[in-house]
Amino acid sequence: MIETIDKHRQDFDSRIHSISTPEPLKQLRIDFLGKKGCVQALMKELRQATPDEKRQLGKLINDFKQHVENLLGEREDDLGKSTNNQTSQRESFDTTLPGKKETPGTLHPITQVMEEIKTIFLGLGFQVEEGPEIETDYYNFEALNIPKDHPARDMQDTFYVDGDAVLRTHTSPVQIHVMENREPPLRIIAPGKVYRCDSDVSHTPMFHQIEGLMVDENVSFSHLKGIMSIFLQEVFGKETKVRFRPSFFPFTCPSAEVDIQCVICRGKGCRVCSQTGWVEILGAGMVDPAVFKCVDYDPEKWTGFAFGLGIERISMLKYGINDIRLFFENDLRFLKQF
Ligand code: FA5
Repeated sequence: MIETIDKHRQDFDSRIHSISTPEPLKQLRIDFLGKKGCVQALMKELRQATPDEKRQLGKLINDFKQHVENLLGEREDDLGKSTNNQTSQRESFDTTLPGKKETPGTLHPITQVMEEIKTIFLGLGFQVEEGPEIETDYYNFEALNIPKDHPARDMQDTFYVDGDAVLRTHTSPVQIHVMENREPPLRIIAPGKVYRCDSDVSHTPMFHQIEGLMVDENVSFSHLKGIMSIFLQEVFGKETKVRFRPSFFPFTCPSAEVDIQCVICRGKGCRVCSQTGWVEILGAGMVDPAVFKCVDYDPEKWTGFAFGLGIERISMLKYGINDIRLFFENDLRFLKQF
């Protein structure tokens, strides 16, 4: 048994000196002082010894146990101190370093362009109005002189919510809400989301429009041309050329589509303008007398113009973006450029 105690001591001494981290030290304590450790095993063995042997061997086992406890205690203290030092080194920080900067969010480019356009029209004496995004068939079509069997309904692929309710396909229904509730003269713009079953590089199922409406005595097409030209030159620069092309909308007569000279190629012809040098930017025209009758305005007394423009289309031209879907992918690398 004396030999066994010696062997355990040598084993313990060599193991404790090779340990440099707390985990193996815990295991060493279990191996030697634990319930199933070798000191307990020696104690069990001692029960078989004679009373004389017990006295001698018991002293040796106690000395060995004391030795193990002392060395384990010292080593645990050493390792504890060095771990604390490492932790405090890791946690110490340089108070002279600049603080972490919070990056503030920015307005979405579509919101920025909307705000810019609103500011221009507010400066021209227009007021901002709003309307619902879910419309009845009446406001989205009928009151705008688009009866149920009118071929113009094919121009806009509509999301029907149920039999009579639709996601508005344009902001023009706001014209009707405003005229039902107010008497002329009026000058309003109505920005908002509109929905069409449409998707490619220049069309998305949800996009933004701004509607404009001016009604007064003696409002003429010249007023429409003047206001549109001022607005487009404010957005795209004074040298931007604007042209009016005859077109058709059931709620305006005469109607026009307004183009600007392509800002990408400056009229020379490129992919964006399909080599024509011009890009369509909005629809407009003089309010049709049939619409005035629907809202009880006297078409003999009042005349007016209306226009509707696509914000995404304007933003694409303003920033030279060739795919409308980039606005809705929420890629911060794209959005951070504005
Ligand atoms: C209209 O929506 C008419 N309500 C505009 C109007 C108002 C005319 C008042 C006369 C008087 P149009 O369908 O052409 O017209 O759409 C207007 C603009 O919306 C287009 O010039 C284009 O810039 C934009 N647009 C149309 N469809 C999409 C789409 N799917 N995605 C993005 N922009 C679109």
